[in-house]
Amino acid sequence: MRVVRSIPELRTALRPSRREEKQIGLVPTMGALHEGHLSLIRRAREECDEVVVSLFVNPTQFNEAADLAAYPRDEAADAVAASENGADYLFAPPVEAIYPEGFATEVRITGPLVDTLEGAERGASHFHGVTTVVTKLLNIVQPSIAYFGQKDAQQALVIRKLVADLDIPVRIELADTVRDDDGLALSSRNVHLHGADRERALALKAALDAAQAAHADGVSDATTVATRARDAMTPFDVEPEYLVLVDPNTLAPVAAIDGEVLVAVAARVGETRLIDNTILNGRQ
Ligand code: PAF
Repeated sequence: MRVVRSIPELRTALRPSRREEKQIGLVPTMGALHEGHLSLIRRAREECDEVVVSLFVNPTQFNEAADLAAYPRDEAADAVAASENGADYLFAPPVEAIYPEGFATEVRITGPLVDTLEGAERGASHFHGVTTVVTKLLNIVQPSIAYFGQKDAQQALVIRKLVADLDIPVRIELADTVRDDDGLALSSRNVHLHGADRERALALKAALDAAQAAHADGVSDATTVATRARDAMTPFDVEPEYLVLVDPNTLAPVAAIDGEVLVAVAARVGETRLIDNTILNGRQ
C-alpha cells in the first residue's frame, strides 16, 4: 500500500487504471479506523481493482473546535489497518492540499435532509462541510464506487442526494453498522468513552432494541414506539438529543409505522456525542 499526500500524485498513480477502465473504489474516512471502516475496505477490495482509502479529518464539518481538536488521530495504526485489509492507496493529504489558501467554494444541499436531526443539533454547516469535502474527494479519486456506513444514515442520504443532483458518476454503496459484542455501534469517538460512560453508551442500542420490540409487539403508533425507546434509555441515565421515527428516504416524521421507518437517536454520554439508528420494517 502506498501513502499519498498530494492530489497530482494520486491522480498520476490512478491514471493507468482509469485508462484501462478498471473499477476504482473509494472508502472516505477521517481515520481512527475501526472494524466498521475495515469492513468497508474489505468490501471495496472484493468489488474493485484499485482501493483508495482517504484519511482526512475535515475541519469544515466540525461545529466545535474542541471536538476537532479531540478527534482521535493515529495515522501509523490506520496505515497498517488499511493495508492489512486490502487498500492499495492511503490518501492522507494535509489540510492545505484540500483547502489551499484562497479556497472559496462550498457545496451545499438545502432543505430537510440537512436541516433536521444532525443538521438541527450541529448546524447545517456540518453537512455543508461534508458535501464540500466529499465532492472534492470524488473529484480527486473519480471512483466507480464509494463506500459509506449506514450508521451515519443522514450523511448517507445527503451524499446520495449530492451525487444525484450534481450528476457525479459514482455508485454509492452503504454497509451495515458494525457493533461491539454488547451492541455498541462502532465509532471513532468510542475511544473517548471511559469508565461508566462505556456502559452508559449502551443506552442508544437499548432504545433501538426497545423500538424494534415495540414494533414486533404490533405497536404501530410512532409516538408510542418513541416513548418506549426513550424509556429504555432512562436506566442508563442518558437523555437523547433526539429520538425520532422518520421516513428513511426523506427524514420526514412519521405518525405510524407503515412501510420502512428509520429510528434515529443521538445522545451525549459524558463528553462524547454518539448517534445510532435502526430500520423498522413495517411489512414484517
Ligand atoms: O463519515 C465520515 O467519516 C466523514 O463524514 C467523511 C464522509 C469521511 C467526510 O469527511
